[in-house]
Amino acid sequence: MIKVLFVCLGNICRSPMAEFIFKDMVNKKGIADEFYIDSAATSNYNELDGAGIYADAKKMLKQMNIPFTEHKSRQIRKKDYDKFDYILAMEDKNISNILKIVGTDSQNKIHRLLDFTQNPRNISDPWYTGDFVTTYYDIVYGCEEFLNHIYKEQ
Ligand code: 4NP
Repeated sequence: MIKVLFVCLGNICRSPMAEFIFKDMVNKKGIADEFYIDSAATSNYNELDGAGIYADAKKMLKQMNIPFTEHKSRQIRKKDYDKFDYILAMEDKNISNILKIVGTDSQNKIHRLLDFTQNPRNISDPWYTGDFVTTYYDIVYGCEEFLNHIYKEQ
């Protein structure tokens, strides 16, 4: 079982989108049983509010026929570092914030999602940009290349 945790600042836009896009991808490939997939935030704002996936993120997933269930925002915890094999962040700032919570990345589990691609970069925050379409395609690109990376390794 490969355990993957997607992480962003609020866990209401990018990381839940990545969670459900990746779940759909492995489902369609018939390999869902090989994965445990979840998402979390670096901040605790939305956990305190009990917030679910942001409406525009849900709209984008619906538009692209990506099934999703309810997901409540939660902050990443120190024990998640041991639980997960891959902790996939959306941007540099997420990584420094994850490290503040989990300590050092001694097992090299923490990466930016787009670092698995030929074009390593941050995924912009649609909470601020309003551009959920770019976010969607960046996440799909990152998830496809991450999957290629995993299967190249085995
Ligand atoms: P996300 O976007 O990190 O992609 O989930 C954000 C959502 C909410 C907030 C910040 C970023 N916020 O400040 O509440």
